[in-house]
Amino acid sequence: MLIDSLTLVEAGWMGQPLHRVRSKVRRRKAEDIQVSIMGTPHLFAPLTVGGITFPHRIFVSPMCQYSSVDGFATDWHLVHLGSRAIGGAALVMVEATAVLPEGRISPGDNGIWKDEHIAKLAQIVEFAHEHGARMGVQLAHAGRKASMSRPWETPEHVVAAPDGGWPDDVVAPSAVAFSEKYPTPKALDTAGIRRVVEAYAAAATRADRAGFDVVEIHAAHGYLLHEFYSPLSNSRADEYGGSFENRVRALREVTDAVRAVWPKHKALFVRISATDWTDGGWDIAQSVELAKLLHTHGVDLLDVSSGGNVAAAKIPVGPGYQTEFAARIKRESGIVTGTVGMITGPVQADTIIRTGQADAVLLAREMLRDPYWPLHAAERLGQKISWPKQYLRAAHPDTVAREPVRAVMKD
Ligand SMILES: Cc1cc2nc3c(=O)[nH]c(=O)nc-3n(C[C@H](O)[C@H](O)[C@H](O)COP(=O)(O)O)c2cc1C
Repeated sequence: MLIDSLTLVEAGWMGQPLHRVRSKVRRRKAEDIQVSIMGTPHLFAPLTVGGITFPHRIFVSPMCQYSSVDGFATDWHLVHLGSRAIGGAALVMVEATAVLPEGRISPGDNGIWKDEHIAKLAQIVEFAHEHGARMGVQLAHAGRKASMSRPWETPEHVVAAPDGGWPDDVVAPSAVAFSEKYPTPKALDTAGIRRVVEAYAAAATRADRAGFDVVEIHAAHGYLLHEFYSPLSNSRADEYGGSFENRVRALREVTDAVRAVWPKHKALFVRISATDWTDGGWDIAQSVELAKLLHTHGVDLLDVSSGGNVAAAKIPVGPGYQTEFAARIKRESGIVTGTVGMITGPVQADTIIRTGQADAVLLAREMLRDPYWPLHAAERLGQKISWPKQYLRAAHPDTVAREPVRAVMKD
């Protein structure tokens, strides 16, 4: 059921807080409805994606912390992710989390390839939920960019087996290294691809058991699934290489396998690189076609990034430099999009939403600089947001939601 502004006026509900409208609608026994207020959405307008309602549109982008041990999340993750939940983000996304051990970028990557990983993730999810944030996890396989050092160690250095690496087990669509600094991968055979697909599905099942609201399939930044769809890293002659349809097959199979086990009332995101920034490579036109395909395969939101598959690519980085890709994909495919990349200012983020370029913004480094960015953005934009009660004495009274806006998520 869609409630437009006319209905709101007719019902005398216009201008009332969303949660009141929702409860009135519920009282009319309309269950499982999606309340969508027509008109111009803004940064602090709620967003329903799949079955999940976010109270606003500020998401924490996934960021590797290289601080896991044998794939196990640690107290670092609890504090780091918990801080961003306290800081008011509508969604906190856990970093690239490997579905298989050889799919880690570094030995310190987070993992979800065994049931034992679930308990710590569940603790983090529970803490974030208590503080009103939705939680997502990015399911990843690093492909040919695996078995590398952590960035604060010797950068771009292959970790050898005696040091905890697995350079001989690195896999990709084709046996072509990312650069001379990276391991030369083995080309996956069909059974190997099937194993990856099944590992994604098993990881999604574990993510559900851990209580996550969102899973995001990582198909960007030159990792395994991007390596499949980019013609620059895929020279296969079988059904996984060559044509557009064949190159996107691995991602489509992973999507179908995840969607089959991921509950319908939870949201499925996919992160893609919209372009390789290289002539003859993956580009925005193919991304639009991929978006249309993924939309029909049950993907609820496309998280639009770029690059990462060509070591020498020249990328014109600047404020909001990837937002045009999210905008075009949204316009031409109709899928809900998130945009990421050098979004740092509240007005900048709000403008992206108000001008319809994307439905949500994902912030990465700015969230490291300021875990309370959403609280500060609400103040800057004159919007209300609920503060952690422990911090209320630090809040400007005008910005504190009288009713707990974020509590709408606990339905
Ligand atoms: C420390 C760090 C770790 C990152 N790890 C991931 C990751 O796990 N998965 C991913 O898709 N992107 C990762 N990224 C990329 C960010 O999610 C984001 O796309 C990029 O930093 C651009 O956004 P920003 O300008 O807001 O930082 C990482 C970025 C940083 C700074």
